[in-house]
Formats: sequence, structure tokens, C-alpha cells
Amino acid sequence: MTTTESTWQPYAARLAEQLVEAGDIHDPVWAKAVAETPRHLLVPVSYRQRPDGSWEQLDDDFDLAYSPTTLVTALEDGVAISSSTKPDLMARMLETLDVRDGHRVLEIGTGTGYNAALLAHRLGDDRVYSVDVDPGLVEPARERLASFGIHPHLATRDGATGWAEFAPFDRIIATCSVQRIPWSWAEQLTTDGLLLADLKLGPGAGNLAMLHRSDDRLEGRFTGRWAAFMDLRQPEHAETPTPCQPQASLVRRRMTSAPAQPWNTHREVWMLASLALPANLTRGFRLNATTRAPEASMLSAPDGSWCEVDLSTAQVREGGPTRLWEQVEEAHTRWLQMGEPRWERFGLTVTPDQHRLWVDSPAQEVTELN
Ligand SMILES: C[S@@+](CC[C@H](N)C(=O)[O-])C[C@H]1O[C@@H](n2cnc3c(N)ncnc32)[C@H](O)[C@@H]1O
Repeated sequence: MTTTESTWQPYAARLAEQLVEAGDIHDPVWAKAVAETPRHLLVPVSYRQRPDGSWEQLDDDFDLAYSPTTLVTALEDGVAISSSTKPDLMARMLETLDVRDGHRVLEIGTGTGYNAALLAHRLGDDRVYSVDVDPGLVEPARERLASFGIHPHLATRDGATGWAEFAPFDRIIATCSVQRIPWSWAEQLTTDGLLLADLKLGPGAGNLAMLHRSDDRLEGRFTGRWAAFMDLRQPEHAETPTPCQPQASLVRRRMTSAPAQPWNTHREVWMLASLALPANLTRGFRLNATTRAPEASMLSAPDGSWCEVDLSTAQVREGGPTRLWEQVEEAHTRWLQMGEPRWERFGLTVTPDQHRLWVDSPAQEVTELN
């Protein structure tokens, strides 16, 4: 694939127009950044998962590189460990973060460097700092960015610790999800600085939180449009929990009025349920043996507890020591009692030793996160 500007620029310009038309970009400065950033140079290789779980490598393709699509760019043991986040989400996040001229920004999760390139286009290389835990990603990103004249500050380090040497930052953006906001990020923000990060309370249970730094806390709300990132990894790979197979012994059978797939249809309910469900939960579907269509949603926990909800009859079958589906039902009831709040009514207050989830105002605490 040739990389002359006349070849790729029409594609990048069209992507920028698409994002403006879709309402993902309002600020012309970000439209210009998208139109002038050669994403194909940062994503020379990407992977698509086949229905059987295996991965196919995709050839260089301008249509793909300049589409609002997340591109998986690194695999380890068959699992995606890095991607170039879809440009529409990236642009929305950068606008939400209210990045302004003169700001210094720290990104957690360099990945391909595409987001760092957008930031550098807007702010200048010297104001952009980006870290990734994986040296196999940082060095290629550095070289590819340099190939079109962009030189942000990049480092291989655990993003959970931020980058104290260059703090304070006006903005921090995390492009990997965290279970708790590291207090080091708060410490490395200027007073009145803003932090945008995906807080994940369980599998698929969380959303982007936009938090404002004041003297003693970070505080803010979740964003209205849901988005999820891959997890922040430990520098030494953490043990991946072994999925638990539902046990054959059937203990209970009943009907439910809670949504059968809250992680898809009622994400706020799923977030509330995840506060009570065991850690390392496995979530999935039972497929029809003939049609391969999902028949029942399933949860299983490391203690051997399991449940499945028939998608057509709403019948629950469950077994094991923990009544998993009861937590979903209780969360659903609580959510109905709260007036069915959507994401933007939920907020978060983070102090050095506490995360508090609230609805509508910090005074209306939903729970303290353990
Ligand atoms: C969705 S990708 C980032 C996309 C990137 N911003 C881009 O524009 O291409 C998430 C990245 O987070 C990185 N990551 C995971 N754990 C991390 C950690 N502890 N510290 C820093 N980066 C981490 C992954 O290696 C991965 O590259």
C-alpha cells in the first residue's frame, strides 16, 4: 500500500466528515486532527475474530483503517491485548475531556499511538504524554509516529502509577478500564483538572466516568453513551480466572421478571448487580445445538454457583451455593425504585481510600465500593 498523502488523505477526510455528521465531533479542531492523521500507518496489521474464536489477519485496507471501527492490533495466547479504539469513540472522548490549547495531557494505554497522534496534532508533541505497559507496543508506536513527524513523550510503564515525573497534567485519559481509579492519577492532576476513565465493576459492568479534581477528591458523572475498554493489565500478567462450567446438579427452578441479558439491554442494572455478584464471574449464553442461536443467558462463579435464564420463557434454573440471579433481580428492583436512572444520573466520588457511587447528587449515595 502506498502511503503518499494524496492516497490516504481523502479517506481520512471522509472519516472526519462522517464523525462530524454523526455528531461525534463538534469542534473543527478535532475534525482537522482526524482528517490529517494517517491511521493506516499506526495500524499496519489488524485481526478479526472468526465465529469459531480463531483470528484472521487483515491486509492493509484504507477503507478499514479509515472507518469508525475498533481494530484489534495485538494478540497474546489468542486474546486481544491491544487495539486501536474506534475513532468516533476516541473523538467523543477527547471532546468530552474538554482538551484545550496549552493543556498537558497524560494518556494511559498508548496502544497504536493513534489517540496520542490526535492529541499531538491538537496540542503539539511536547504536551502529550502516553504510557503503555507493553514494550512491544510502545516502541513500534514511537517509530510509526516518528515516521510522520510526531514525537510525543512515550514510556513503557504501568499506567496505574501514572507518570509522576511529568505531573501535574491538566487532563488524564485512560484507554483501558480500571476496577478502581488509582489515587496516583488524582495526585498527578492539576486542581480543576479532568480525568476520563472506564470504571469497570464486573464483566461489561461499567462505563466512562468523567471526574473533576478538587482539593481532596475526584468527582463527576458517568457519560450518557456507554463505552467499554479492555482491562488495565498488571505488569506481570495476572492469572486469568478459569471459567467455571455450570454443574449438572439442578437445585432451583423459577420465573424471573428481571431482564435476561442486563449486560446488553439494561447496563445500569448490570452495573448495580455487579456490585453484589462475586468477582471473576463468567457470563455467556447457551446456544441451541442445531441453530446455534442463543437460547439462555448464563452466569457462573468460581464457587461453582451457576444460573441460566431461558430467553423465551424467562425461566431461571440455578444451582450452587450462591444465588447469582437473585442479585440481578434485587438490582433490577432497586433500579426501578430509583426511577430507572440512566448512566448520566449516576456519579462517583473518589478519595484516597474510598469510591462512592451516587445517583443525582453526591448526597444520594447508592453504595460505597469495597
Ligand atoms: C484499547 S488499547 C489503547 C488504544 C490506544 N489509545 C490507541 O489509540 O491505539 C488499551 C491499551 O492499554 C494498554 N494497557 C493495559 N494495561 C496497561 C497498564 N497497566 N498500563 C498501561 N497501559 C496498559 C494495553 O497494552 C493496550 O495497548
